Amino acid sequence: MDFKKGQIERAAEAISNAKCLTAFTGAGISVESGIPPFRGAGGLWSKYDPRMIEIGFFQENPEQSWAEIKKIFYSSMKSAKPNPAHKTLAAWEQEGLLKGIITQNIDNLHQEAGSKNVFEFHGTVNYLVCTQCGERFFHTDVDLGQDMPACPKCKGLLKPDFVFYGEGINTEIYQGSMQLASKSDVMIVVGTSGEVMPACHMPVIVKQNGGTIIEINTLPSAYTDMISDFYFEMKAGEILPKLAEAVKALRQ
Ligand code: APR
Ligand code: ZN
Repeated sequence: MDFKKGQIERAAEAISNAKCLTAFTGAGISVESGIPPFRGAGGLWSKYDPRMIEIGFFQENPEQSWAEIKKIFYSSMKSAKPNPAHKTLAAWEQEGLLKGIITQNIDNLHQEAGSKNVFEFHGTVNYLVCTQCGERFFHTDVDLGQDMPACPKCKGLLKPDFVFYGEGINTEIYQGSMQLASKSDVMIVVGTSGEVMPACHMPVIVKQNGGTIIEINTLPSAYTDMISDFYFEMKAGEILPKLAEAVKALRQ
C-alpha cells in the first residue's frame, strides 16, 4: 500500500507524543478474527433481521429472537480469537501508551488480547441477565441449549447482557466512556461505520476538544471526510502492527 510519503511515520509520531491515547473500536477490528461486521457486503444485517435484537420484539417473541440471536452472536464468537489488531492495542496499554478502549463490540476479544481498561459500550455476549430477578450469569453457567434459556435461580427468561435496540446504555459505562473521550488528545478509530448513536459520538468529542483522529477502515466511514486527520484504508490487523513498528523506531 503506497501511502502518501510518511503518513505512517506522522501517525506514529502523534501516537508516541499523545498525552492520552485512546481507541474507539467497532466490528471491523474483529473481522480478521472471523466475526462478520454488521453492515456492508456480507454484513450480518444483510442476512439477519435486526428486529431480533430490538427489545420490544424480543419481549413479544422470545423464542424466535433467541433462535436468531444464537446464530448471529453465539456461533461465530465461540471460536474467535484476538488478532494482531487487538494485540497491538493491548501491548500499547501494557507499555503505558494507550490509556483505554471504548468498544462497541460485545465479543470480549480486547480483554482476551490482554486489554484491561475497556469500556464495553454495548455490553457483552459473555453474560446473560434474568428479565425477572435481574441476576447476571456467565454464559457457561447457563444452559444455552434451551429454546428460551431460563434463569437458574428463578426460571425467568434470560436475555444476553448486550444492548438491544431500544435499550439505554449502562450509565457507568456511558459516563466512563465520556470521561475517557473528553481527556483524549489522540484517538485511534478502528473498524466502525460510525452510524450508531450515542456510541459514534465518542470520536466527535475528541475532535471537538482539538484532538487528533487516526482512522483505520477498509472503506470510508461517516468519520473519514468529517473528522479523520489520518485515514488508513487497510485491514486493522495489517496496519496496526506497522504503526507499532514505527512507534517503536521513534522511541528507541
Ligand atoms: N479492518 C478495518 N476495518 C474493517 C475491516 C478490517 N479488517 N473489515 C471491515 N471493516 C470496517 C467496515 O468497512 C465497516 O466500516 O468495519 C466497519 C464495520 O461497521 P459496522 O458493521 O457498522 O460495525 P459497527 O460500526 O461496529 O456497528 C456499530 O451497530 O448493530 C449495531 O450494536 C451493533 O455495535 C454495533 C453497532
Ligand atoms: Zn431470575
